[in-house]
Amino acid sequence: MVPAVAPRVEVGVDLATVAGRLARRVETLALESLERRGRFGLALSGGSTPEALFRSLAGDRSSGVDWTAVDFFWADERAVPPSDPRSNYGLAARTWLEPRAIPPIRVHRISGESDSLEAASGAYERDLQNYLGSGPESGGPALLDLAILGIGPDGHTASLFPDSPLLESSAWTGVERSPPLDPRVPRISLTPAALNRSRIVAFLAAGDEKRWAVARVLHPDAFGVRPPAARVRGLESTEWFVDRAAGGSPAGGTGAGRPSDG
Ligand code: 6PG
Repeated sequence: MVPAVAPRVEVGVDLATVAGRLARRVETLALESLERRGRFGLALSGGSTPEALFRSLAGDRSSGVDWTAVDFFWADERAVPPSDPRSNYGLAARTWLEPRAIPPIRVHRISGESDSLEAASGAYERDLQNYLGSGPESGGPALLDLAILGIGPDGHTASLFPDSPLLESSAWTGVERSPPLDPRVPRISLTPAALNRSRIVAFLAAGDEKRWAVARVLHPDAFGVRPPAARVRGLESTEWFVDRAAGGSPAGGTGAGRPSDG
């Protein structure tokens, strides 16, 4: 088995700084992919952290990126309508997609508002298959060019929580009915089987409450714990953009312990 390439870690003084650095990295990858392959498939996450990133990307008119040529996907979505403040699509729409007038054909939304989350999950997987031109059964080329992920205090990413059966699923999407952390609404999530077919995976993390999780992902030998975020890596590279508070250190820093540690 080919050993995983060590993750690249960028530590900045605060969230605004690392979000800006990730924004410039996203722009570089988009320009390169659109020029070389004529496409750029990007998966976004939700929560509070990425807002600074989305606003930085929406506000930069000098990058030269034609965002209307980019295909936007999501790493996960909550079971709420787009108008709900908890919607991951809604966050991106308000802060980036609408300000830059991204055409609907480029927006591959997960239908969190669906009455059947299983049907919505299946429809999203078919959308991904149509985009790639093949399904999970094929080894095949990269599914996405870049997945932008966050990490929870418990080491979850997307809606892949510790001990979730989705972690072992061979499907590309799945339903998480009882997330152990807020917002405690059901979710539809990409699985590691899908995320690990991204050319590049970039994590954005900030705040002391993430230190425990970041340390255990970046220094697994020091802890022997392998949180869900440690199960996700890019085909070409895995990159971390973290502020000093979440920077992660073998000692696990002075950050809050894992929530379940009490
Ligand atoms: C979600 C996200 C989730 C998020 C982390 C961090 O739907 O909640 O995809 O994986 O990235 O929970 O969330 P914060 O940025 O709010 O800390």
